[in-house]
Amino acid sequence: MADTTKKLTPIGSKPIDRGKFIRYSAAAVGGLLLSPRIVPGKALLQKRRGDQLNIALLGTGAQGQVLLNSCLKIPGIRITAVCDIWAAYNRRRVSRLLGKYKHDHRVYEDYREMLAAEKDLDGVIIATPDFWHEEHTVACLEAGLDVYCEKEMSNTLEGARHMAEVAKKTGRLLQIGHQRRSNPRYIHCYEKLIQDAGLLGRITTVNGQWNRSVQPDLGWPKKATIESAVLKKYGFANMRQFRNWRWYKGMGGGPIVDLGSHQIDIYSWFLGAQPVNVTAVGGTDYYEPATHEWYDNVQALYEYKTSQGTVRAFYQVITTNRNGGYYETFMGDQGTLEISESSSRSAIYREDSAPYWDGWVKKGYLKSPDEIETASAGVLDVRETLAPPAYSLPVEMNVPYHMPHLENFFAAIRGTAELNCPAEVGYETAVTVLKANEAVALGRKIAFKPAEFRI
Ligand SMILES: NC(=O)c1ccc[n+]([C@@H]2O[C@H](COP(=O)([O-])OP(=O)(O)OC[C@H]3O[C@@H](n4cnc5c(N)ncnc54)[C@H](O)[C@@H]3O)[C@@H](O)[C@H]2O)c1
Repeated sequence: MADTTKKLTPIGSKPIDRGKFIRYSAAAVGGLLLSPRIVPGKALLQKRRGDQLNIALLGTGAQGQVLLNSCLKIPGIRITAVCDIWAAYNRRRVSRLLGKYKHDHRVYEDYREMLAAEKDLDGVIIATPDFWHEEHTVACLEAGLDVYCEKEMSNTLEGARHMAEVAKKTGRLLQIGHQRRSNPRYIHCYEKLIQDAGLLGRITTVNGQWNRSVQPDLGWPKKATIESAVLKKYGFANMRQFRNWRWYKGMGGGPIVDLGSHQIDIYSWFLGAQPVNVTAVGGTDYYEPATHEWYDNVQALYEYKTSQGTVRAFYQVITTNRNGGYYETFMGDQGTLEISESSSRSAIYREDSAPYWDGWVKKGYLKSPDEIETASAGVLDVRETLAPPAYSLPVEMNVPYHMPHLENFFAAIRGTAELNCPAEVGYETAVTVLKANEAVALGRKIAFKPAEFRI
């Protein structure tokens, strides 16, 4: 029989090891509990429609539309149900787009009605505000569906833990939307440069930032104002809060959670460890505190103890100036890796004392500065210049940022890949990031116990 693993495994996904797959399938027959990471796809256990997966989109706002645009490019994905409380705007827009792409679908306001009516779904993509993630995810998992839930997994640790527990109990897949985990550029940095080549040597310091310009509050077309009874039913005081939920306690987590969680997730991934403590300062110093309950800037310092020693990892998020944009920098005694989701941005610098990297360049792990310089200006050997030689990544990301992570989720449903960001990983990141807000509030260092990261 032909092995279809290769064909169905998208870039950035690890194919399931066949031996492992067979072993775990046998364990299922024996009645053993399966981890969500290795549950064979529902499609392999139940009826099949060829390769087609029927997916619901719950939450059709800015991010729901970004995810939908990727889904429309992925073969075999049909969006057959759409749920959103903003009927007159986001939901209408998405429904029109689906009509244009000939995705036959039904629309709902209340997710409970959707789950009661839709009996032919394989999975749900959840892109509602953070404070809805727990209820939406748990209900979908309990309805037997696999779930892709946007970050932040939840605005509370109890919520995130509950989601992970239900995923485990039901044996359904739960992918959390930290999309860099499926980005081939990040995977290359981790697997090839850090793990395999050990190019950076002993990593001692990490730096990262997301600096953003001042942004006005989000508005809405007045003719699309939602009735206040509907807003209240779904937990929103008014349209202003509905549009700017990220800034409110009890709804989102502010910029450190919204933006920082993506990058702090990479710290733990690349370091192969969870932090032992966090110190953080921040405040609502620029915006109006009555409508911006969360801190508009945070500077956090995490301490990690890795197998190589202590690592200090700084992270900053500000919302008043975009200087430098967003990136993460890993510094070791042999080199520095600067990486950003922004696809044009990466640089790898060799310390003078480190052995030359020509072997890694030949192996295809890096593009040498010589190649770059020669291509542009035909200048001297950069080793003779004073500027540090900037190597670059040989891997490009030519598809939308979220597409590989969605493809990984769909491959996992089909049973041909493991999730790149399963619930337990999303939970670890939620613990790491939500505690930074707590450290700001308490004004002191918070220690993490290893048990806190376990579900
Ligand atoms: N991975 C990323 O890079 C990324 C980027 C942006 C946002 N996000 C995440 O995506 C999620 C959505 O963010 P957004 O920017 O799209 O917000 P948004 O406010 O633009 O959209 C939220 C949508 O959810 C709908 N909604 C609210 N409550 C609902 C409910 N109870 N039932 C059904 N629909 C409901 C709203 O009507 C709106 O259309 C958040 O969790 C956010 O953190 C992730």
